[in-house]
Amino acid sequence: MPRRPEPVRDLAWSPDRARELGEDTVELWVELLARLPELPVSRDFKAEELHAELALEVPEEPLPRGELLRHLRALMFEGSMYPGHPGFLAYISGSGTVPGAAADLLAAALNQNSGGFRLSPGATTIEQHLMRWLAGRFGLPPTAGGHVVAGGAVANLVGLKIARDRARDGARERGIRDGPPLAFYASTESHVIHHRAADLLGLGSQAVRPIPVDDRWQMRPEALAAAIERDLHAGVVPAAVIATAGTTATGAIDALPEIAELSARHGTHLHVDACYGGAAVLADELRPLLAGIEWADSIAVDAHKWLYTPLLGGCVLVRDARHPAASFATEATYIWLDDELRQGVDVAMHGPDFSRGFAAFKIWLSLLAHGRAAYARRIAHDAALARYLGELVEEHRDFELMAPPSLSICCFRYAPGALRRDDEALDRLNERIMTAVMADGRVYCSNAVVDGRFCLRACIVNIRTEAEHLELLLEVAAEHGARLAAAAA
Ligand SMILES: Cc1ncc(COP(=O)(O)O)c(C=O)c1O
Repeated sequence: MPRRPEPVRDLAWSPDRARELGEDTVELWVELLARLPELPVSRDFKAEELHAELALEVPEEPLPRGELLRHLRALMFEGSMYPGHPGFLAYISGSGTVPGAAADLLAAALNQNSGGFRLSPGATTIEQHLMRWLAGRFGLPPTAGGHVVAGGAVANLVGLKIARDRARDGARERGIRDGPPLAFYASTESHVIHHRAADLLGLGSQAVRPIPVDDRWQMRPEALAAAIERDLHAGVVPAAVIATAGTTATGAIDALPEIAELSARHGTHLHVDACYGGAAVLADELRPLLAGIEWADSIAVDAHKWLYTPLLGGCVLVRDARHPAASFATEATYIWLDDELRQGVDVAMHGPDFSRGFAAFKIWLSLLAHGRAAYARRIAHDAALARYLGELVEEHRDFELMAPPSLSICCFRYAPGALRRDDEALDRLNERIMTAVMADGRVYCSNAVVDGRFCLRACIVNIRTEAEHLELLLEVAAEHGARLAAAAA
């Protein structure tokens, strides 16, 4: 008789135990929401102190409930900074949505693997439907599709992988060595991840041709045309034109209709990095800014930026829903399935991920719980707030506007009269101001480099930011600016 193993149930908690941890967790979440406006947005964290506080020894036995809670509290209230704080205006990092956090819990509770339809029937259905809806907002045709990947870096990589494979027969099997070099074209203001994508795809980062921008930081179409012509002349194959809809530094939107026309003329894949600006398709008054994006072959748009959902949710949308499988499908003997059972889409065959979570759910639940109109209002409000900040900057004698606000970005610098003409000194001073603001706790901004000059940058992708927080940003920056300028004098 084989010895029958006894059950081991330590890890399979009962519903009551799940409720206990769940209630503790929800209590903490609600406390965070209640205290968020009063908490410091960030602090002057020290890595060693945090390590001492948070890096517990992994216990042999379960931590008692009280100790576990103490640890969670320490993480939440002593060891964290808060992108959801109304004063958080840095990078392009959305505040997170309340329904999005709840969705993450339910998605983890279900633990569906949305790599395969049969492992995630509901999740795959929702994700596919959501992506088609989003594609429709961009004006892509009914043939369009898409899926959710980690973030914008991966969403862009997937679009560019499709472009590479369309440009070079057999690239998936033999790489790109059989034939002339391939090139991508992106403005000098485009995000660095396109260089990394070219590197990962075997083209080498230098295959991304830097196209100069005009005085509004938009790619110059005639310079793009010239770069393509130069490459064609040299026997290089243009594989993708990468337009940006909302650059990271200033929020510039490339001239999409002209660029689309140029791409079409050369039969080149048009990829649009709309990781930031893509959200404008949800706001009626901003939608016209993205005219021309409907010609894209692929679009990357990050829900965790201006759709505010919690990290991560990079969406890759494609004009032709067959393209991702053509670029990523592969055979694995262990996932054989009788044709009779085959249903729906297996997204594991559409991108670099095999197993996948249900990241689409936080986007979906947020849209259902808020409704599209609320997004339209908030996105338009963010843009109005950025314009308001621009006006405040222009009115203030010690600040200088570095670029007209675009989308929800405003770039400015502290430039008191005595230093106005000394760009080098202003660069150093504003670097120090940003560092001080980040440690200050009342507000939090980051920087951009505009025309070679260091400036402070607020990007409003935050459901809690209001005019008072922008006023406070200038107050705090001016306070540190005056102190640091006096110290340096
Ligand atoms: C225009 C643009 N593209 C791509 C990215 C990269 O996105 P992610 O950080 O989600 O990978 C960013 C990040 O800010 C961005 O601004």
